[in-house]
Amino acid sequence: MAKEMKGIILAGGAGTRLYPLTRVTSKQLLPVYNKPMIQYPLETLMRAGIKDILIIVAPDHAGDFLKCLGSGKEYGCHFTYEIQDKPEGIAQAFLIGQDFIDHDNVTLILGDNLYEDDFSEAISTFQSGGRIFAKEVADPQRFGVVEFDANNRAISIEEKPKVPKSNYSVTGLYIYDSTVVDKVKNLKFSNRGELEITDINNLYLQEGQLDVAFVKGKWFDTGTFESMHEAICFARDRHLAKATSER
Ligand code: G1P
Repeated sequence: MAKEMKGIILAGGAGTRLYPLTRVTSKQLLPVYNKPMIQYPLETLMRAGIKDILIIVAPDHAGDFLKCLGSGKEYGCHFTYEIQDKPEGIAQAFLIGQDFIDHDNVTLILGDNLYEDDFSEAISTFQSGGRIFAKEVADPQRFGVVEFDANNRAISIEEKPKVPKSNYSVTGLYIYDSTVVDKVKNLKFSNRGELEITDINNLYLQEGQLDVAFVKGKWFDTGTFESMHEAICFARDRHLAKATSER
């Protein structure tokens, strides 16, 4: 039977870097111009045709996510909700979501990542293994960093390296087959107490099963004031350009 593509949005975490904005609400519910932040990654999944979506949230404001996004009916989708009790890493999403994933493929997007690209093709052509998306950035030490060989093939990925081996950051959209669930079950917590998505990517890489594609358009990880501000300006420009073209 053909495998379906399921979607997961991970909107856990305490948002401490955006304090005091996150004192009474979740980072992913904060406004990015005219929409709550989480709506952007949701639209990225929906634009690629994904309809069955698990939304993983931190316990503190779980009810607000439900109020904000509802059942999914409004979008012609089906939303399921789960709680991540503690911010124990991106890879934990696959443990929380293991029944939801079942034997299907899965696209995980971070609830604070905003993309200009359309990933329909990358998602519809995916068959097995893992596919991640890199982007050249000015501050690679903040991210997972991909090292390439002379033929532009990925040879290693390091999480927040002090001395990055390239300027290419791994961004917050990950496509995997269902073997990701067994992979995460065998992971150990890192020094920062997380199940690292970088460890999952390295496992696929060692199997020769990791495809590293590139983000062509703009990408924002809105976890800091500065990057959030840039994302808001981008969302505003895009919104106004669209309104003008429709006039
Ligand atoms: C996480 C990942 C990192 C990735 C980044 C993308 O970083 O650990 O590999 O490059 O998301 O947004 P964190 O949000 O934990 O700082």
